[in-house]
Amino acid sequence: MKHLFTIALAKRKYVLLLIFSLIASLLFTFSGQLEMFSLGVVTKKGPDFFELFAPIKDHKLSPTNSVSKDLFEERWDQLDKNHSNSITKEDAQLFIKENTKPGVISQGLDFVNSIFPVEKNIYFLIIALVAVALFKATTLFCYRFGTKLLAIRISRDLRQEYFEHLQALPISFYQNHNIGSLSSRVVNDAYIIADSINSMLINYLQTPFAVITTLVICFAVSWKLSITVFIGLTLLIFPIIFLAQRIRKIARQIQKKQESFASVLIEFLSGIQTIKIFAMEEFSLKKYTEHNDQMAMLEKKSARYDIASRPILHTIGIFCLVTALLFGLYGLLLPLHEVLFYCGLLSCVYEPIKKFAEENGRIQRGIAASERMSEVLSVKPHINDHDGAIELARLKTAIEFDNVYFGYTSIEPVLQGVSFTVKRGEKVAIVGPTGAGKSTIALLLARLYDIQKGEIRIDGKPLPAYTQKSIRENIGFVPQKPFLFFDTVLENISFGRNYSREEIEYAAVQAHADEFIRKLEHGYDTLLAEAGKALSGGQQQRLAIARALVKKAPILIMDEATSSLDAVSEERIKQALKSLKGQITQIIIAHRLSTIEDADRIIYLDKGVKIAEGTKDELLVNCPQFKNMWDLLYCSRS
Ligand SMILES: Nc1ncnc2c1ncn2[C@@H]1O[C@H](COP(=O)(O)OP(=O)(O)O)[C@@H](O)[C@H]1O
Ligand SMILES: [Mg+2]
Repeated sequence: MKHLFTIALAKRKYVLLLIFSLIASLLFTFSGQLEMFSLGVVTKKGPDFFELFAPIKDHKLSPTNSVSKDLFEERWDQLDKNHSNSITKEDAQLFIKENTKPGVISQGLDFVNSIFPVEKNIYFLIIALVAVALFKATTLFCYRFGTKLLAIRISRDLRQEYFEHLQALPISFYQNHNIGSLSSRVVNDAYIIADSINSMLINYLQTPFAVITTLVICFAVSWKLSITVFIGLTLLIFPIIFLAQRIRKIARQIQKKQESFASVLIEFLSGIQTIKIFAMEEFSLKKYTEHNDQMAMLEKKSARYDIASRPILHTIGIFCLVTALLFGLYGLLLPLHEVLFYCGLLSCVYEPIKKFAEENGRIQRGIAASERMSEVLSVKPHINDHDGAIELARLKTAIEFDNVYFGYTSIEPVLQGVSFTVKRGEKVAIVGPTGAGKSTIALLLARLYDIQKGEIRIDGKPLPAYTQKSIRENIGFVPQKPFLFFDTVLENISFGRNYSREEIEYAAVQAHADEFIRKLEHGYDTLLAEAGKALSGGQQQRLAIARALVKKAPILIMDEATSSLDAVSEERIKQALKSLKGQITQIIIAHRLSTIEDADRIIYLDKGVKIAEGTKDELLVNCPQFKNMWDLLYCSRS
């Protein structure tokens, strides 16, 4: 609840809209009461026989059920002042006015008559009724539209904030959260929150106001009746509280289930090929069905509580209404129009309470959603630019790893005291078995993680001295698994930057991608299917290489970037990289040794430890593991 209110009141622009909605809601409540008042006015006919001929006690007419002939004759004389043997309607009204305590309707009517004589002319009354109806319609629209608009804006801002926050979070965050859960938060939760804010504004602003003001009027009409009825009305509160707690609990469970449900679906979609080849459809279906059934069960439970509120409240409401009618008319002998007005007022209290109970489920779901969303929003990005971090211009001298220790978790070290230097313009290769920590080195250089011990320096300064953005601007990176997105080839290579078409095509030629791109249906303007599905692994890699090359970054890191390439493409790319030698600094991670033959130096890494460093010929002599690898490659090639 606190979360929702904080979100609703977070910004000034929201507050203005909130005030607007609030005013509209107050006017709306007032118009509802006015409507009931006009109902009373319309049904207010003159006094009936028993009222007019009731005995007078303490200077007031006292309600009665029987009239004696004596009293009748005495009263007749009182009413027929000028002995004309007839009584006019005016005579009767005047007498009633003088001898009764005026009801709320009569007082109100007197007030209205003093401004606009509705009682004198039936047309005036009709005009007044239409005006009340229009007033209510207008305020209802303004009020509902105001709160809805507020909800829409909050939802938009939340989605925006959520995404911006996600972008700032470190990679490590993503390892602890699954994509299904993160994406369902932004898609569903933002909407649920906004929706519940809408309900909350309606129910928490308007309901208390409507209930309190209406109660005041109810007591003014008849306090005796009010006390009786409202003892009954308090019964409404218990089921509401009970249902609210249930619904909130189930809402949390449903959201959890939705997350795992989304994960199952995303896993299935991204692994569809493997699933089909292994003929695992049945297994997937079973898993999916399980989740689906559990969700349906929770939804059923939630619906039961949601819907139960209506009949329960309805029964209590009708019970109160009947009490008011019977006790008002026959117990307290109130005039019919006052009792009708009173019952109308009861509906003004009852309706918002009923709506509150019904929409409470929505509010509870919003509370659960806002808790989940703020769980992500409250994660602080722990890799931050330090105060006074400077911009890294183009790499001038060297990259140094100095006794670097790092582990993704605190239990398992991945790099253990790794030291090496890459001078500007050099081409250095990192080789070693899988799991040695080669890719990790690339990620650390881009500062996607912070190291635990030692130092990584660029141009003599440790990485945190620079802004993260400027470090990454300096790096052209080809990852092990290329990432392509749903856009044209051109956009996939330029990746959001402004390069001329010539530059892009040149990079594609260098990456030996130009040839196959031109064969695509619309060449460079071909729309790639999601994640480049329609391209082969090698083609995807070549696009990723072109993307890194077009950036012309001073540091090029290739992480097994040629693993899926055919010999021809690999040779071409090798030539392209050769031509860049000396101009840019290259760090090539590879297990295929052909790409690194001409490297200035090769670093052999195993289990996070640097075993050897030197030229190819040196390593063949000094490093048996490297020699093994080389021999294996040689044999497999021949
Ligand atoms: N995100 C991660 N979380 C936890 N451990 C990881 C993560 N990425 C890699 N590792 C572990 O770190 C070690 C080195 O991985 P990596 O640098 O990818 O090796 P290489 O690229 O040499 O094959 C491996 O043991 C791997 O299991
Ligand atoms: Mg790797």
